Amino acid sequence: MSKPPSFEQAKTKREKARAAGMDPNYWYAVELDDALAKGAVQRVTFWGMHVALYRDEFGTLRAIEDRCAHRHVPLSIGVVKGDRIVCQYHGWGYDKDGKLADIPHDLFGMQMPKCKLRTFPVKVRYGLIWIFFGDADRAESVALPYIPDLEGSEPWACVPVDFTVKAHHSMVIDNVSDFTHEFLHRKFKPFADAKLTKLEPTEDAVYLSYDTKVGHGGVTAHFIDRVQADTDHMDLAYQYPYQWSNTGNHIKHWLFVLPIDERTTRTFYLFHFKSFKVPFVPLRFPRQIMAPIIRAANKVHIRPLLVEDAVACEAEQDGWDKHWNQPTAEVNPAVHAFQTLTIKKWEQYLAREAAKGARPIGMAGAGLVSAPLNPKKREAEGEAPAAE
Ligand code: FES
Ligand SMILES: [Fe+2]
Repeated sequence: MSKPPSFEQAKTKREKARAAGMDPNYWYAVELDDALAKGAVQRVTFWGMHVALYRDEFGTLRAIEDRCAHRHVPLSIGVVKGDRIVCQYHGWGYDKDGKLADIPHDLFGMQMPKCKLRTFPVKVRYGLIWIFFGDADRAESVALPYIPDLEGSEPWACVPVDFTVKAHHSMVIDNVSDFTHEFLHRKFKPFADAKLTKLEPTEDAVYLSYDTKVGHGGVTAHFIDRVQADTDHMDLAYQYPYQWSNTGNHIKHWLFVLPIDERTTRTFYLFHFKSFKVPFVPLRFPRQIMAPIIRAANKVHIRPLLVEDAVACEAEQDGWDKHWNQPTAEVNPAVHAFQTLTIKKWEQYLAREAAKGARPIGMAGAGLVSAPLNPKKREAEGEAPAAE
């Protein structure tokens, strides 16, 4: 059984879509802001490129190439001291600009080596940490996603939900905006009888609409404010590299994908709601108590629903890996449009890198290695503690 082709080897649209990377010259959500305490460091990966993300002891988030200049030990297993990241092995310390600033052992009469590691712009918005993995000088001219409903003095209620799915990012994108998979959600019924009424591909996005019955299943159906919201219609977009939906200007979501490698995608969903109805009576909950309701809804409805999608995408990945060279049939024109956009954006990125003579992200040598052993985890598993 042969492996699916690389992007360069791919012949069909499906093969290309399933092998394409994502253009790193956008802001990508990498972690929940409250998941990283002061002094903590962790690895984040974009298309095979590893970055050590840490919050320094003053509270500032910093991202640096995940590689010590001494012997390439990942800095993500290191420790944070002040605003520096210190390598776990011989204790070489790097300052906030990535410059080697300290070597705590004998230099044998040698000069301190001059080393500078690559650092990455980091921001926080909507409870998420964002990194710009592309050319740093483009970072300020590329906007982070702006969600007006989550801004201002009365933002809509929103609680992020995140998953890591063992599937290619294009499978996730196909899944969220393609409503032919109503069968999968026969328990929760997030949409029913969907008819595609608009499909509008543009240079940077695919806009689409469905006439569909939204949110008629599960306990949360009773909370949907159908007097104020038109729940017979949904607008969606794959606004590269993000995805969103809007039901009656009342129920919305954004999905931010982090393409980790060819078969792993982390997904961050921001579902947000303008109002919730008190079940069975014509009253609405005050905005202040909506966050706890969403948290409860995430547990009993939204997360289990998204798990159905994640399991389906992982099964699709498995099927693709085994049967990629069998003919496939795709009937939804929206899926063709998503795949065309993914391929086009990746080709544009590859062409820009080639014009600069630069090596594209994720190619040989850029990463795609398994995560290093975490010393704390090894200790917890009963192995000898790593040297301090
Ligand atoms: S490998 Fe990092 S200090 Fe030696
Ligand atoms: Fe779904």
